[in-house]
Amino acid sequence: MAAANSLTFCPQVESPAGAAVREGLSSRPRSLPAWLFYDDAGSRLFERITELPEYYLTRTERAILAAHAGTIIAKAAGNAHLRIAELGAGSASKTCLLLAAAMERQGAVHYEPIDVSASALREARQRIEAEIAGVTVAPRTMDYTNGLVFKALRPGERRLVLYIGSSMGNFEPDEALSLLQRVRATLRPGDAILLGVDLIKDREVLLEAYDDAAGVTAAFNRNLLLRLNRELGADFNPLAFAHRALWNRSHSRVEMHLESRRVQRVHFSGLDLTVDFAAGETIHTENSYKYAPGQTEMMLARAGFDPTATWTDEKNWFAVCLGHAR
Ligand code: TRP
Repeated sequence: MAAANSLTFCPQVESPAGAAVREGLSSRPRSLPAWLFYDDAGSRLFERITELPEYYLTRTERAILAAHAGTIIAKAAGNAHLRIAELGAGSASKTCLLLAAAMERQGAVHYEPIDVSASALREARQRIEAEIAGVTVAPRTMDYTNGLVFKALRPGERRLVLYIGSSMGNFEPDEALSLLQRVRATLRPGDAILLGVDLIKDREVLLEAYDDAAGVTAAFNRNLLLRLNRELGADFNPLAFAHRALWNRSHSRVEMHLESRRVQRVHFSGLDLTVDFAAGETIHTENSYKYAPGQTEMMLARAGFDPTATWTDEKNWFAVCLGHAR
């Protein structure tokens, strides 16, 4: 009888968010995957983060791209006509600099932004079509970590994949390497990748970037709980959780947590799940790895790319690395 019962047991099919929450909140230490941040409200909050005075990443990377866009595009292209794709494009505010340089060089550009947020992609398309005439925008709403396929290129074309904004830093280093390897597998020799990575720097500078005075990053972190309330029928009180950012030097990463301010019980009516939090217990919501100079080039090499050139700012806070598929 027991055997018959186990054969007829059929696990309920859960939404990706539901499955992720059940797994992440049942393990210790508790954690939630970072992709859950980027619903419409989360993507909007992240855009505000990129404009904060403390969040040096976006403006430093933008300055590097502004200073070198022409060279970057020329080196990436060689003698070919570039097609540009972007992983985790968001609203693509920095990408315009590269697209404009590509327009100047080749007169027309096909641009394929890929992101999990449809609203961010709509904004990206509007922004680009308004700012640069001649760019064809072909957005794709998808999670690029679930596999990636590109259309075949025409003769004389070369693909440039943009992976900027320190997005790679949100993966464990071994996952980041395997992601680069999977991107490499979609490319042909001579195609290019452009990586934007945040570099190791003073702890104070790092922590302020992830715990700003206006509290936008705290709101972004807590928005995750509001999403779970809405989508999974949870009853989180977001203010009963504190936003925490800390620098984990041995792992070279900034960690984001939500810390339970007191003993509390959270119920998920959509999941038939109850989670008890102790006072001070944390949910680990995100890592942002910071790289040492030269490390990205080594990863590119291990993933099957020749690291062609690296650009950085005068403080050496951020690096933009170009690689060509071997
Ligand atoms: N890619 C961004 C980064 O690591 C994402 C990010 C910025 C983020 N601020 C955050 C993620 C706060 C979670 C919490 O810099």
